[in-house]
Amino acid sequence: MNIALIGYGKMGRLIHELAQKRNHQVVCIIDEGNRSDIDSKAFREADVAFEFTNPESAVQNFLDAFEQNVPVVSGTTGWLEHWETVSQACRKANGALFYASNFSLGVNLFFKINRKLAELMAGFPDYQAHIEEIHHTKKLDAPSGTAISLADQILEFNKSWKNWKLNPYAKHKELPVFSLREGNVTGTHSVHYVSEIDKLSIRHEAFSRHGFAIGAILSAEFLKGKKGIYGMDDLLSHQ
Ligand SMILES: NC(=O)c1ccc[n+]([C@@H]2O[C@H](COP(=O)([O-])OP(=O)(O)OC[C@H]3O[C@@H](n4cnc5c(N)ncnc54)[C@H](OP(=O)(O)O)[C@@H]3O)[C@@H](O)[C@H]2O)c1
Repeated sequence: MNIALIGYGKMGRLIHELAQKRNHQVVCIIDEGNRSDIDSKAFREADVAFEFTNPESAVQNFLDAFEQNVPVVSGTTGWLEHWETVSQACRKANGALFYASNFSLGVNLFFKINRKLAELMAGFPDYQAHIEEIHHTKKLDAPSGTAISLADQILEFNKSWKNWKLNPYAKHKELPVFSLREGNVTGTHSVHYVSEIDKLSIRHEAFSRHGFAIGAILSAEFLKGKKGIYGMDDLLSHQ
C-alpha cells in the first residue's frame, strides 16, 4: 500500500520503519511544520494515512483526511469527547476510520480479561476497584486512552460505580483512575480489586512500542477497500 504519515514522532517513525519491512511505501510525511501538505497530490495518493499526533490536532487531521478521501488509522488519544463530530464527518464524506486507544494484541486480550473479571466481581461488592496507569513523562493526556477503555468496560458490567474519576479523593460511586508519569515507561496498566482481607490484580506492561506499530499496520491492511468506522474488535474477530 501507499501510506501517508500524519505525525512523525515516536509512533510515526516506528510505523515508517516497520511498514517498509512489510513492503508498503511511504508517499507523504506530515508533521506540525508542513501541515498544509495534507492538501497535496502526494497525500491523496496514499491508500491510508496513519495519524499519531496529539489530542489538539487529531480531529482536524481526521476531517482533512476525509475531505481528501484518504482512509485514516489513528491511535492518538485524548480527543474522544469529539467522537460524534468525527463519526458524522466520516459518514458524510463516505470515509474510513480505524481507531484504537491501544493497538497492541496483548492489551486487547487484557481488555477481554478485564471485562470477564468485571462481570465476575460485580457479585462481590466488598471489593473496591481502582485502575492505575503509568507512562513516560512526555505523555500529554491523562488518564491514558487505554485506562479510559478499561474504566468504561468495568462501568458496563459493574453498577457499583456511576463514572470514573482521575486521581480522586475517595468518593462514593466513582471508579478511581490513578495516572503516574515516570521516566520513559512505554505503558503499564493495572486493575485492582481490594477488600479488607485481600487484593486481586491484573496487569499489562508494554516493553516497547513495536506492538502498537504492528497492530496499526495490520489495521491499515484490514481497512483497505472498506468504508465506515472500525476498531480492534473488528480486526480481532477476523484473525
Ligand atoms: N493507540 C495506541 O496504540 C498508541 C500507542 C502509542 C501512542 N499513542 C498515542 O499516539 C499519539 C502520538 O504518540 P507519539 O508517542 O508518536 O508522540 P510524539 O512522539 O510526541 O509524536 C507526535 C508527533 O505529531 C506531530 N504533530 C503535532 N501536531 C501536529 C499536526 N497538527 N499535524 C501533524 N503532526 C503534528 C509532532 O510534531 P512536533 O514534534 O513538531 O510537535 C510529533 O512529531 C499520542 O496521543 C499517544 O498517546 C497511541
